[in-house]
Amino acid sequence: MKTALAIEIRKASPDDAEAVAKVHLEAWRGAYQGIIPHRALNRMLSRRGGAWWAGAIRRAANVMVIDAGGTIAGYATLGRNRARELSQQGEIYELYLLPEWQGIGLGRRLFTAARRTLSGAGLKGLVVWALEDNQNALSFYAGAGGRDIAEGVEVFDQKALRKVAFVWD
Ligand SMILES: CC(C)(COP(=O)(O)OP(=O)(O)OC[C@H]1O[C@@H](n2cnc3c(N)ncnc32)[C@H](O)[C@@H]1OP(=O)(O)O)[C@@H](O)C(=O)NCCC(=O)NCCS
Repeated sequence: MKTALAIEIRKASPDDAEAVAKVHLEAWRGAYQGIIPHRALNRMLSRRGGAWWAGAIRRAANVMVIDAGGTIAGYATLGRNRARELSQQGEIYELYLLPEWQGIGLGRRLFTAARRTLSGAGLKGLVVWALEDNQNALSFYAGAGGRDIAEGVEVFDQKALRKVAFVWD
């Protein structure tokens, strides 16, 4: 007999810090190995352990988690849009799932919840940036109705990578 998986999406608490650090490490490795130069990627990953995440969550950085049957399967960070040239007010800075939990609809659910949280906070419109080489992310945001309207460049150890902004009004 199949049992339904209990899915809960909520604001992260400092107790979630280690689990969020694990998602960050595994999802970033999975998404960016071979795209972001090795040393730059390792540097970014080593900075963001459990203590870093506990601090970020305590400082009220807006971090949400998706709990799937007791496992923190993903996280999102969100807040005000940082790109002055875009008129949308909200931004999802990061949205990542553990590799083994990808592709079963949890990303879509977390994205919808994050978007609702931003609009509930009075922020109109949404921006998400994704690296152009991250095809999965581009398909995911295009599939969620985002319009890719702007481009930028991010430099990692002298390697310039193009990024794309998706927006929702
Ligand atoms: C990108 C990511 C957040 C998507 O979440 P997910 O749970 O895997 O995606 P879902 O199962 O919710 O899929 C939602 C939709 O996106 C599509 N999609 C998801 N992954 C896809 C892929 N690899 N290729 C094509 N389409 C994809 C699905 O087909 C689905 O469309 P549908 O609703 O029309 O069937 C997740 O896979 C992830 O964390 N990837 C690695 C990290 C990453 O790239 N994060 C984004 C950084 S900007």
